[in-house]
Amino acid sequence: MDRALGLSERAAAFCCHSWLMDPQLIDLLPADSNIVRFQARFDHFTDSRIDDADPIRHVFRRAVGGAQVSSGFLDQLPQDTSLQRGIVSVLGSGRHWYVRTGWFRVSDPSTGLAPLAMPANAREAENGEA
Ligand SMILES: CC(C)(COP(=O)(O)OP(=O)(O)OC[C@H]1O[C@@H](n2cnc3c(N)ncnc32)[C@H](O)[C@@H]1OP(=O)(O)O)[C@@H](O)C(=O)NCCC(=O)NCCS
Repeated sequence: MDRALGLSERAAAFCCHSWLMDPQLIDLLPADSNIVRFQARFDHFTDSRIDDADPIRHVFRRAVGGAQVSSGFLDQLPQDTSLQRGIVSVLGSGRHWYVRTGWFRVSDPSTGLAPLAMPANAREAENGEA
């Protein structure tokens, strides 16, 4: 399979550093949502830091500066989806969003997931070798 995907080596683990790793999403989104199911693949979490700007940038395509997001700003944001409502509800109640790093082993057969690794051509491009 690695060869079919153009992968030069097998990865031992897959990690994701993102607001998508914030555990608050579990309570705010439907259990069968893609984000919740994606996060559930990860079984180890390391660093965690406050980052309210990240979900706002990715979901609302808006930039925020400063430590506190104002209620006036939140009132302008669309509330069409459960994710949009959840992001605003957390900030509106004075809480924060967090960026975390999640990871899981891909060599563990119990995950049932195919091995993941960066394609060789992508890694060469990243290293300036392409
Ligand atoms: C990651 C992503 C593809 C997931 O989208 P998805 O597959 O629709 O996610 P889910 O199935 O979990 O969606 C659950 C709910 O959130 C909503 N939602 C998901 N992404 C949304 C977005 N970018 N904007 C608004 N609503 C969104 C869905 O419409 C759904 O709403 P509903 O429950 O009211 O029907 C999407 O959020 C996205 O493109 N995000 C921007 C990129 C990003 O943040 N990447 C990570 C960078 S670190």
